[in-house]
Amino acid sequence: MESTTSVQPFELSVEACRARRGTKWNKYPSDVLPAWVADMDFSVAEPIQEAIERLVNLGDYGYGARLGEVSLETAFAERMERRFGWSPDPEQVQPVSELIQALFSVLLAFSEPGDGVVMQTPIYPPFLVALAQTERRLVDNPLADEGSRFVLDAADLRRKVDDRTRILVVCNPHNPSGRVLEREELLALGELAVERDMVIVADEIHADLLYSGRRHVVMATLSPEIASRTITITSATKGFNIPGLRCALMHFGSPELRERFRRTIPDRLLGQVNVIGIDATVAAWRHGQPWLDRVMTRLSANRERVAEFVAAELPGVRHYQPEATYLAWLDCGALDLPSSPAEFFLEQARVGLNDGADFGPASQSCVRLNFGTSGAILEEVLERMAAAVRASRAGGNGTRQSSSRPPIRS
Ligand SMILES: Cc1ncc(COP(=O)(O)O)c(C=O)c1O
Repeated sequence: MESTTSVQPFELSVEACRARRGTKWNKYPSDVLPAWVADMDFSVAEPIQEAIERLVNLGDYGYGARLGEVSLETAFAERMERRFGWSPDPEQVQPVSELIQALFSVLLAFSEPGDGVVMQTPIYPPFLVALAQTERRLVDNPLADEGSRFVLDAADLRRKVDDRTRILVVCNPHNPSGRVLEREELLALGELAVERDMVIVADEIHADLLYSGRRHVVMATLSPEIASRTITITSATKGFNIPGLRCALMHFGSPELRERFRRTIPDRLLGQVNVIGIDATVAAWRHGQPWLDRVMTRLSANRERVAEFVAAELPGVRHYQPEATYLAWLDCGALDLPSSPAEFFLEQARVGLNDGADFGPASQSCVRLNFGTSGAILEEVLERMAAAVRASRAGGNGTRQSSSRPPIRS
């Protein structure tokens, strides 16, 4: 069954995607459909495009005071207030190029090699890379499988935190599970951080991408004690599909926290953000919501379709529908595939997925599928995966089985 949502103007065709020069569509040979890195196959919101065109048409590439529009800091504060009822202090905002730069900086500023850092695995792989490269120690607090969704395991965390555990990283909404942590779950984390004097890093980059019935609770709104030790890191790049423009920010929950950070990482070490990224981000936050609302309709339909397809055509694959994000986390352990699932689907289905092994110690049987694409491309991705599994079950000889569907042209 095809998705019920009609094709939207922002949905790019395969040809349009392949004409792009970004990472997603250029990593693999041209017969592979990429469904990995967290870019959506959608053109950006008009106001973003207009803001960039304005700047390009003026050739306005000097140092960027950005007078005329509101500042990045103000646009951020206004959006947080409007969307999440949070009033961050624009004075405590530090623009950066990207969230992972922010994470590295916090690790260096607030911990020493060998110190513990809490994360909930499976987790966005660059988090683990940041730990490895700064020689910090993972205090792993894996999400627990409740049977219908993953949940935070606060008791497990309480047992594991030791005197050298300095930082608690919370990814909410969570990548790759798509969980939107509830207030009680966040409180359990926040209260433990207060009790054990940990700095909190709250990565809330996916907060724009919530499905119906979900509410994003900003970590820094839980209590003054929690806020004062929380560094929120976020950007418009996931919700508005502009990750290549490299503009993000850190918000420090108290001036003291920021001063402690600056002792190790002076502002200038972080560099300044390029003006295109700033103008695009301000346009996204101020004027992009109607576009995002339409995108969420497409993503909701895709999310349903993945669940329905997996249940019907990929029996044995364990999948809980994400509560946010356009990422599906699929445990393929029961398929008993001849190689790792990511390798199998790449070789036999010509579909490029993220390898679960990169997300933590217990995820080798998983893949992450990005469904931020047109209904037609998603359908082809799923069909190819199911055909490869059927062929493998039928004792396939290892040669690739192509889908019986005609090439997509949407
Ligand atoms: C949870 C999470 N944090 C951070 C990032 C990356 O952000 P940046 O490109 O700004 O480093 C991503 C990208 O997908 C992500 O999913």
